[in-house]
This record gives sequence, structure tokens and C-alpha cells, in this order.
Amino acid sequence: MSHILITGAAGFIGSHVLDLLVASGHDVVAVDDFSSGSRERLEKYEGKIKIIETDINNTEAYADHVYPNTTIIHLAAFVSVPKSIENPDLSFKTNVSGTHKLMILAKEKGIVRFLSASSAAVYGNNPNIPSHENDPHAPTSPYGLHKVINEEFGALYAELYSTAYTFLRFFNVFGPRQSLSGGYPAVIPILIQKGIKDESPTIFGDGNTTRDFIYVHDLARIIVHIATEPQHTRFEVYNIGTGTEVSLNTLWKEISEICSTKKEPEYREKRTGDIDKSVAHIGKLQGILKDFTFTPLQKALEETIQYYKGIE
Ligand SMILES: NC(=O)c1ccc[n+]([C@@H]2O[C@H](COP(=O)([O-])OP(=O)(O)OC[C@H]3O[C@@H](n4cnc5c(N)ncnc54)[C@H](O)[C@@H]3O)[C@@H](O)[C@H]2O)c1
Repeated sequence: MSHILITGAAGFIGSHVLDLLVASGHDVVAVDDFSSGSRERLEKYEGKIKIIETDINNTEAYADHVYPNTTIIHLAAFVSVPKSIENPDLSFKTNVSGTHKLMILAKEKGIVRFLSASSAAVYGNNPNIPSHENDPHAPTSPYGLHKVINEEFGALYAELYSTAYTFLRFFNVFGPRQSLSGGYPAVIPILIQKGIKDESPTIFGDGNTTRDFIYVHDLARIIVHIATEPQHTRFEVYNIGTGTEVSLNTLWKEISEICSTKKEPEYREKRTGDIDKSVAHIGKLQGILKDFTFTPLQKALEETIQYYKGIE
């Protein structure tokens, strides 16, 4: 059993990680300000774990609940790429300042392990496919830049102080509990809504745009695995994807089959700034996961569609 502080525990990804942590008997402190996460998701854990409602910037609100043996899983973030372009200062406040305050708390408390959510957004316009952890950063938004800055702080502080840092660059995450509004412009929930309603989806470009879609249940298992395994190095960065490129046309084909709709997509002009192709090189991740099996896309989509049908 480990003592774990998880930020962003009420969010899409955080709530799945929290479910696994509690099911595995870990001693958990959950921190969230419920700005985009849902308070109801934590209700079932009241009395079982420590829940602290606060902005991560207010470290004094949760400092008494962290110890040198606490592992920090930091998932709280201002997650909207477009909104970070509109209002970079809001993104900076949570994504840089908040993360930095958490790092300083880790330094002061002598915390040993710190895992932090990073993003494929750090690669941005880098044309290398698949994206490799050593590829240069080319973020196209304040959100992506702020994730780069966090990694840079982590690399330096791992040298200077006692905490070891692991940054997990998530690719496109999907699955139950993903928000239909705000946050990421998430394509899967939008296509699923269209499939359920038997409507044509709008696809920007010719549909050959690709992404690396990772199922949130798989991602949560990977995060918990990495957080609870011993780390032998001071600083690591991992791509967290499946290593498989899936086009939007393929995605709609799968979703429309599951939803039994024959509607064809309406294609519109490609949006400026949209990246054509994105896929993770996952050799480094496979090196630590060993026998991990990813949920097949079709099964993951079926489960996700069931979820959205349930909340209709
Ligand atoms: N969803 C994806 O496809 C994706 C891809 C790459 C990276 N990520 C990263 O994964 C992490 C989780 O993202 P998500 O998709 O679950 O988003 P989410 O919005 O569902 O979850 C973020 C959580 O953080 C909380 N939060 C936000 N600002 C806070 C603050 N200042 N103090 C305390 N809590 C705060 C929110 O209330 C929410 O519960 C983020 O760091 C995000 O950048 C997500």
C-alpha cells in the first residue's frame, strides 16, 4: 500500500485513476477545485479517502497531508488548448504556477516520487512521425508550452533536490466520463453523439487526419502501474499512447457500425492549426509495461458508446 496524493481526482482521467487506487487499497488524498471535474464522482469515496477541495496553488490547504513517502500523481490542469490561446494567463496560473507550487511542496517535504501529466501537445508542429520522447518540442499553444515548462522544471529539480520526476505525455485519451463540452476538443464523444442520434458528423479536412487514441481504462492502469513501481532514475518522460495511428474516417466507420447508422460524414475545410498526423513511439513505455495488452479499439468504443447512451 502506498500513500498517494492525486490532484485533478474529480476529472475525466483522475477519477478513473482514483477508482483503481482505492480498489487496490492505497491510502489516498484527493485534491480538486471542481473547476472542470465533477464533485459527484468523489461522493462514493467520502469517509474512505481524504478529499480536499482547493486550488492546487493553495498548497497550505493540503501540505499537512503529504509526507516524504507520499507519491504525487499530478493530473489537475487547465485543459483546454483553445482557451489557453484565448487566455494564456489562466492556463499559466494552474498549469505552470500551480504545478510549480506543488513541486516546491515536494521539495520542502522531501517527497520521493512525483508523476505529472504532460501531453502530446509538447510535440505540436514537429513533423516527426511517430513522435519520439527525444524529439524537439514545437508547441503551438500556451497549454503545450506550459507542459514543456513543467518538464523543464522537473528535469532541473530532479538534479537539485530529492524528488524524482516522471512526466507522462498522454496522447488522445477517450472513454467514459469524458466531457462533451469545454476541455479538449475531443473528437470521439462528438462522433459518438452523432452516431447515437443517427446524424452526419462534420469532419474537418478529408478524414485522413490521424491520432493515437488511448482508452482511459488502459491509461489509468498504466498510470497506477508506473506510480507504484520503484523508479530507479531521477527523471523520465514517457509517451503514453498505443503506437497506432487511427484516421477520423476509420473512427467514424467503427462508430457508425456500432451505432448502426449509415450516415456519411460532411467534410469541411481543414481548420488552421490542426495537425495532420499524430502517433506515439511507445518503445520506451513498452520497456516498462512488459505484458500490457491494450483494449481493442472496437471494444473500447462499444463500452464508451454504452456510457454515452446511459447519460442521454
Ligand atoms: N484528456 C486528454 O486527452 C489529455 C491529453 C493529454 C494530456 N492530458 C492531461 O491529463 C490531465 C487530466 O486531464 P483530463 O482530461 O482528465 O481533464 P479534466 O478537466 O477532466 O480534469 C482536470 C481536473 O483538474 C481539476 N482542476 C483544474 N484546475 C485546478 C486547480 N487549479 N486546482 C485544483 N484542481 C484543478 C478540475 O476540476 C478537474 O477535475 C491534465 O493534466 C491534462 O492536461 C489530457
